[in-house]
Amino acid sequence: MKRTNRLMFILFASLTLLFLLAACSGQEGASSKGEKKEGTTTSGTSGNDAEGNASPDKIVVGFSQIGAESGWRTAETESVKETLGNSDEFELKFSDAQQKQENQIKALRSFIAQKVDVIALAPVVESGWETVLTEAKDAGIPVILLDRGIEVEDESLYTSFIGSDFVLEGENGAKELINLIGEDVETNIVELQGTVGASSANDRMKGFKNVIDQNDNYKIIKSQTGDFTRSKGKEVMEAFLKSDGDNIDAVYAHNDDMALGAIQAIEEYGLKPGEDIKIVSVDGIGDIFEAVADGKSNIIVECNPLLGPQLAQAAKDLMAGKEIERWIKTEETVFVGAEEAKAALPDRQY
Ligand code: AHR
Repeated sequence: MKRTNRLMFILFASLTLLFLLAACSGQEGASSKGEKKEGTTTSGTSGNDAEGNASPDKIVVGFSQIGAESGWRTAETESVKETLGNSDEFELKFSDAQQKQENQIKALRSFIAQKVDVIALAPVVESGWETVLTEAKDAGIPVILLDRGIEVEDESLYTSFIGSDFVLEGENGAKELINLIGEDVETNIVELQGTVGASSANDRMKGFKNVIDQNDNYKIIKSQTGDFTRSKGKEVMEAFLKSDGDNIDAVYAHNDDMALGAIQAIEEYGLKPGEDIKIVSVDGIGDIFEAVADGKSNIIVECNPLLGPQLAQAAKDLMAGKEIERWIKTEETVFVGAEEAKAALPDRQY
């Protein structure tokens, strides 16, 4: 080979080698910085140890979220991602189950296989968790329930529950509705329930009935699930109006999104929401504050979705060997009428 040809060959071979090396390191970078894989994302720089276990220097939290059915749910996801996803102390593995329990079970098994330090679970329904939670317990991974509760015989299958008192929310909603309309006024209520089998739906139903059942003037004439979504809330309210029309005095919606769907249905039916039909709902998202401020809805029972900081603290305490409370409750209040909604609007965080 001539000298110039040899030089050209060496130059070409070196460039090819450099290109291959760059391509390989690019791929590694993508997988450790959290590309989307079967609904799971990772945030925070990963530092797996020699055995392939997740970050040895950070607290690794696997969070199985239900989905994105409501404004409340989106706010909860953002709170967890903001607190644990952009942190030097945590690595967050996030999985969106798209409303399916089977996806949550798969996500939990994947977190167990990855040997995360803590599992956070927002369970879509109350039942059916024994097997997978026993697997987590056997692997020595503590499970923190976020927002919704579960029904298990062996209470040691989870360490703590962070969230609201849903029975109390239902009771407060009913009390304020009776205050607003008057104890002696005959009132027909239709109920828009949350997801069937969810603790927030079961307990909000129970709490509301606890109070309503004590007053003979108040009756729940129809009750159906709207699955915590705006579109289904509207659909179910349309059906209620079709069958019971002018007989409906009030709506109790297990969340704001369904109430907002009901508001649309009532307007399309030709009645005035907030006046002809009174509305009480749970959550406290921005859109419902606007609706109450406009006189289209009446009562907001707050349920705080900003659970990221409490989850972070609980995970840190657990890793430091501290005992944590069995139920870490969130502070909440009730807002009644346009004036209270207008006054609160500028400070709302979700
Ligand atoms: O479990 C909490 C409920 O789930 C919220 O009230 C609702 O908006 C959400 O989808």
